[in-house]
Amino acid sequence: METDNTLETLICQEIAANGPISFARFMELALYHPTLGYYSGGPDGREPVGWAGDYFTSVDLSPLWGHALARWLHAVWRALGEPARYEVIEPGAGRGLLAATVWEYALSEAPQWASALRYTLLDRVSAHSPLRHAREQALATRLAQIGVPADGVRWGEALPTGEMVGAVIANELADALPTHCVVKQGADLLELYVAIDERGRLIEQAGSASTSELANYLDRYRVPWRTYPDGWRAEVCLAAEAWMAEVARSLARGAALIIDYGETAQRLYTRDRRHGTLLAYRQHQLVERPLAQPGRQDLTAHVNFSALIASGRASGLRLAEYTTQAELLTRLGIWEETVAIAARLYPYAESERHTSRGQLDYLRRASLRNAVRELLNPHGLGGFRALVMHKGAPGLRKLASLQK
Ligand SMILES: C[S@@+](CC[C@H](N)C(=O)[O-])C[C@H]1O[C@@H](n2cnc3c(N)ncnc32)[C@H](O)[C@@H]1O
Repeated sequence: METDNTLETLICQEIAANGPISFARFMELALYHPTLGYYSGGPDGREPVGWAGDYFTSVDLSPLWGHALARWLHAVWRALGEPARYEVIEPGAGRGLLAATVWEYALSEAPQWASALRYTLLDRVSAHSPLRHAREQALATRLAQIGVPADGVRWGEALPTGEMVGAVIANELADALPTHCVVKQGADLLELYVAIDERGRLIEQAGSASTSELANYLDRYRVPWRTYPDGWRAEVCLAAEAWMAEVARSLARGAALIIDYGETAQRLYTRDRRHGTLLAYRQHQLVERPLAQPGRQDLTAHVNFSALIASGRASGLRLAEYTTQAELLTRLGIWEETVAIAARLYPYAESERHTSRGQLDYLRRASLRNAVRELLNPHGLGGFRALVMHKGAPGLRKLASLQK
């Protein structure tokens, strides 16, 4: 078998022993194999996210993103009646940078809230991996610099079940959940499997669906796939529904904010989007071959927000709002904070443009503003969707207008 990648060898062995595997199983191994998966650090133990990784997320652009979300978390605390203990859980926390930024904001702007705040980070990366160890070390240093109390942030193992008063916040997690892939052929919805060819290479292979749930899913979200042309492909992420149900069950009272790229089912599963949304990333570049180099590249698919909303509702959440990240951040005052910080930190940007300190301030202010503009860019991060659902606190219904 021609391969220089251990994870690829393991995947080939599983296929040789049991036959072709679903794409969801392939993605599970490629991203989450406990030692070799991409989000476990892959074969090189490298950090996948951030400027040194394969792509950046909102948290890398500006701390003002985290400050805006801190204002949202603060508003939820107030809407809950300012409980003495307020849990924030962040599944898919990655490096934990959002936690640090939220704490930074809480300590300087809302000390009473800070005294109630307990922040738990969850991530699928193994607690024993070198990557997790490196992340824990880096975050501990950062938290100490900010002055976060010892019990302010902890790494947890799983979402709790039902006892929590607080908020769940997740950025770019749902797009990384293992997804099935389907293709329409005649009257059937076939599933795309991962198989091996005669030369031992991973290839895609269509076959009967492993579960009727795949067609049921599209029917449930009223996708008229039977009228679509043959060869129409899509991703069906059953895992996202299950995950959202877990999120819902974790809350006794509180709210969940899910940010990601995606659409409602009606906009996601259109006739024109005939190739689906599955993408692979490596070193800030799109890679055309999702089966190549398992463990060394990211795999992701757009999120069906209708599925998150339906699953959340079925498990006791109510919809507060579904909007864009740009709209949410704007309402949470990101631009006002940008202006205030610029005036405080770069006072010579306008008044002394002819001096070197004025020019320096001018450039730094431009950099600050550009980062925020990027977060609000409707064709980029600003176009991400933000979903807010809540449970057990009627005051949370109008959460969007509560932040000020
Ligand atoms: C695209 S990264 C985003 C990281 C971070 N939220 C950010 O914005 O930089 C997705 C993260 O979600 C984690 N993840 C995926 N499924 C998860 C789950 N069910 N529970 C907790 N973390 C999960 C992955 O290990 C990965 O670190």
